[in-house]
Amino acid sequence: MLELTEFSQRLIAWQRIHGRHDLPWQNTRDAYRIWLSEIMLQQTQVSTVIPYYARFLERFPTVMALVDAPIDDVMALWAGLGYYSRARNLHRCAQVVAYEHGGAFPQTVDELAELPGIGRSTAAAVASFAFGARATILDGNVKRVLARVFGVAGFPGETRVESAMWKLAESLLPDAANKDDVTAYTQGLMDLGATLCVRGKPDCARCPFASDCVANVEERQHELPAARPKKAVPTRKTWMLVLKDGDSVLLEKRPPTGIWGSLWSLPEAADEAALVQVAHSLGGDERLQRLAPFSHTFTHFKLDIEPRLGEACGVAHELSDTQTVWVPLSRIDSYGVPGPVRKLLDALCGSLV
Ligand code: ADE
Repeated sequence: MLELTEFSQRLIAWQRIHGRHDLPWQNTRDAYRIWLSEIMLQQTQVSTVIPYYARFLERFPTVMALVDAPIDDVMALWAGLGYYSRARNLHRCAQVVAYEHGGAFPQTVDELAELPGIGRSTAAAVASFAFGARATILDGNVKRVLARVFGVAGFPGETRVESAMWKLAESLLPDAANKDDVTAYTQGLMDLGATLCVRGKPDCARCPFASDCVANVEERQHELPAARPKKAVPTRKTWMLVLKDGDSVLLEKRPPTGIWGSLWSLPEAADEAALVQVAHSLGGDERLQRLAPFSHTFTHFKLDIEPRLGEACGVAHELSDTQTVWVPLSRIDSYGVPGPVRKLLDALCGSLV
């Protein structure tokens, strides 16, 4: 088996030659930029994050700029990235950094992990990239690398397996003597997981650990890490109203908690008849046109969506306590609208104009 001390040395040497060096959040020690990238990269791929990251930094170049922004502006820049609690926590975190830490991110893993939206692994990534701290990351990619190289059995989402992996990951850290080594090591773990030790078809021929890796030597790459035990995802169904008035549609602000919290979306109902009532109360014609149904999968359930198109024909006579707004289809992108709803409206925009 691979010597524990050898792991970091080999990984650092590999990262310096074969790792990624030009991602937009690299080559800086600015904790704000690093923190923002790590939050966006939670559950989201690098290629998706890059344009969002650029737009966000252009609008909010510093943590102080972010603090002063209305949450709606933050949500609008996040719209389409998903997992919107990240954006709400991001805004709260900026406020804590501004008001409780004098505008500078704290430098230790423990202090970073107390901030809103920053878990143990993200705290370690920020500490190591921004401050060269000797800190252990353990995200999904790193779990896959460790499970394969060291042959760790069990589903890594299970507490017992995860604790064992944290211990293993801690025992693998390089010496703290050289901050650039620590940064290269952390980046190397991410790079190996993202470029060679991928889920589908790992490129073991190029891997620095090929000769010692349990999964490669035993040809068990597809068994490691063990899959999440199967559980059926429940399905929910909702009816959505695209209420049109000329080239504008009616958007409703969703409640702050739950799916798509605080985003602008379409009015909804639990069945067709209830949606007709909603259309009526909002001043719409009760004859609704059926649009193509579609689905969206969240972490814990699948949502089947039945969209209906209606025309405004009267005055809204039942003002609800939700916020509503009429928005021209061409201006939808200045509102934080969930990705699937945005797609529906974009498709309509194409067919209506
Ligand atoms: N995934 C999470 N953090 C990352 C980073 N800093 N670079 C590339 N991918 C990442």
